[in-house]
Amino acid sequence: MPKKDKLPPYVIHPSTALISKGFDPSLSVGSARPAVFRSSTYVFSSPEKAKEAFEVALGKREPSPDTELIYARLSHPNAEILETHLTALEPEAKASAVFNSGMAAISTIFFTFCKPQRNFIYTNPIYGGTHHLISELLTPMQYTGHPVMAGQTEKLQDVIYKTKNLDLIFIETPSNPTLTITDIEAAVEAAQSHPDKPLVVVDNTFMGPTFQHPLEFGADLVVYSATKFLGGFSDLLGGVIIGRSQKHIQQLQGTRAIMGNILQPDECWILDTRLPMVEIRMRSESQNTKLIVEQIKKHPNIIELYHPSLIKDEKQKKIYQKQCNGSGSIFSMRLQGGQKGAFEFLRNLRIIKNAVSLGGMESLCCHPATTTHSEISPERLFELGITDDLVRLSIGIEDHRDLLQDIEQALDY
Ligand SMILES: Cc1ncc(COP(=O)(O)O)c(C=O)c1O
Repeated sequence: MPKKDKLPPYVIHPSTALISKGFDPSLSVGSARPAVFRSSTYVFSSPEKAKEAFEVALGKREPSPDTELIYARLSHPNAEILETHLTALEPEAKASAVFNSGMAAISTIFFTFCKPQRNFIYTNPIYGGTHHLISELLTPMQYTGHPVMAGQTEKLQDVIYKTKNLDLIFIETPSNPTLTITDIEAAVEAAQSHPDKPLVVVDNTFMGPTFQHPLEFGADLVVYSATKFLGGFSDLLGGVIIGRSQKHIQQLQGTRAIMGNILQPDECWILDTRLPMVEIRMRSESQNTKLIVEQIKKHPNIIELYHPSLIKDEKQKKIYQKQCNGSGSIFSMRLQGGQKGAFEFLRNLRIIKNAVSLGGMESLCCHPATTTHSEISPERLFELGITDDLVRLSIGIEDHRDLLQDIEQALDY
């Protein structure tokens, strides 16, 4: 036996695990990179192994290293390789599941862990699609959601303590598009003292695995729109859930098999190739953003600029310092002249493109009130701080001097 097989396994860091774990070249004819396994169905080595595979899929027994695959709607090799790598991204994570969009992942969480006639709590503002899911699908089906303004720690804890029959607490932090930060640890504390032991789920899309690790603060599940920073090139849709408990992820995979919303093999392969560079990309984008917001913050056409590097509120600052390792590359600003001023700014941009989405290597800018959050009534938008004069930017990896020049000239409308 070679010496390396006699030694205990290394303890390795996430950036090494992303490259060296989760894939055996001998299963891909020696290929140094995984093959794409596009088969919809898998051949069993015996009827007994088929029986075992179905027992595992139905949760009747634990999986073993040689449990065989069944059918690609349940799982497939590229999903398994990707899920192993995603688990390595989060300290405290035990398992992961991949979905064909961020919204597919979020919907699967609600349909797995919430029940009709019972309650869940969510922070507000929240991504428009999640808001749509709650108002157009969950509410008419008698799932009762209780919104709490993002960042209001005491209020959030109070609502958790007072809500009976509570299944889940869904926190999006920082909030989209106002960048308000919610204290994950405080929510977890309240959830743990609640008799129903509701799950705490964090949408970590904005900070990504580089700047915030919700499981370290006691959250049960982290969800990502992998369409954003994980994919990083605005060329694929994907969703990811990472959990501290294998059981929760198995439950989600069970719902995924029913809903048929697993990420396809080609997309899994592409997303997997992007993961080792996520941290490098995010750090470069965040550095660019810091330099830009620092330069423009005093521009006379900016009424207010929201970015974690410029927090003024003392309570927000404390949560940020405890919870985040960096400020990220999304920022929003309120501009002089209401919607007209915001639209002029968008029209003037020459490098940064007017598009929704974020987290790509190219910079994008949008007007949330009339796009991503436009289904919400004007009165409610105003209460949530999604005002007519607000634009949201996602800064990419271009040279920050060019982006700065573009933003500065666009601000002079
Ligand atoms: C914070 C957040 N969560 C979830 C989603 C939904 O992701 P997807 O578009 O991949 O379904 C988005 C999309 O913009 C988002 O910004």
